[in-house]
Amino acid sequence: MKDIFARTQPVLEGRLLRLRPLREEDAARVAELGGAREIADTTISVPHPFTEELARDWIRRVDEDWRAGRGLAYGMERIEDGGLVGVIVLRDLDWEHLQGEVSFWVGRPFWGHGYAEEAVRLLLPLAFGPLALNRLYAHHMVRNPASGRVLEKAGFRREGLMRQRARKWGVFEDVVLLALLREEWQAGS
Ligand SMILES: CC(C)(COP(=O)(O)OP(=O)(O)OC[C@H]1O[C@@H](n2cnc3c(N)ncnc32)[C@H](O)[C@@H]1OP(=O)(O)O)[C@@H](O)C(=O)NCCC(=O)NCCS
Repeated sequence: MKDIFARTQPVLEGRLLRLRPLREEDAARVAELGGAREIADTTISVPHPFTEELARDWIRRVDEDWRAGRGLAYGMERIEDGGLVGVIVLRDLDWEHLQGEVSFWVGRPFWGHGYAEEAVRLLLPLAFGPLALNRLYAHHMVRNPASGRVLEKAGFRREGLMRQRARKWGVFEDVVLLALLREEWQAGS
């Protein structure tokens, strides 16, 4: 495991957003924004309903994940007003194969401002730099093209279609798999 996990999770700053570790005080806002049906509708692991208590437990868990080198989560904080607008996660860090899964959500009122794209882009130098990962992958439901667009804008390439990979609201959903390799990121960055 990398030494970086023994230190505080670094803050990553871009033009629109600051990615910062989540704090217990964020639980209410995470539950409020993440609890919208539109968020649960196209994600697999965001609970619905999403209570403040669940959000607090999740924030504690992702903090432990960082310290154990299992994964990390960031709050997307808008630079213009310091408000939390979404969350981005890098999970299932696999130190044998040097890869991990990226996922994210942006609160419904904040869609369409480029926040998700910037959040993914901000994560890449950390993932391919200090974490030295070789491959980042991500999934999205076929009926959620906005997520695919975010990932493609950040350089991810489509790898395939997993038929009926997820079950949402009792319905099986086809899911697209995308990935970005370190060498592709280096060539493009
Ligand atoms: C997907 C999501 C994260 C996008 O967040 P966002 O901050 O609005 O994303 P961005 O503004 O960076 O980019 C969205 C892109 O999708 C495009 N888009 C939006 N709706 C679309 C649609 N129906 N079809 C195709 N593209 C679409 C936008 O035009 C934009 O691309 P552009 O910059 O080329 O115009 C947000 O909608 C969300 O949180 N959804 C619910 C949770 C979720 O699905 N998370 C992803 C799980 S894999």
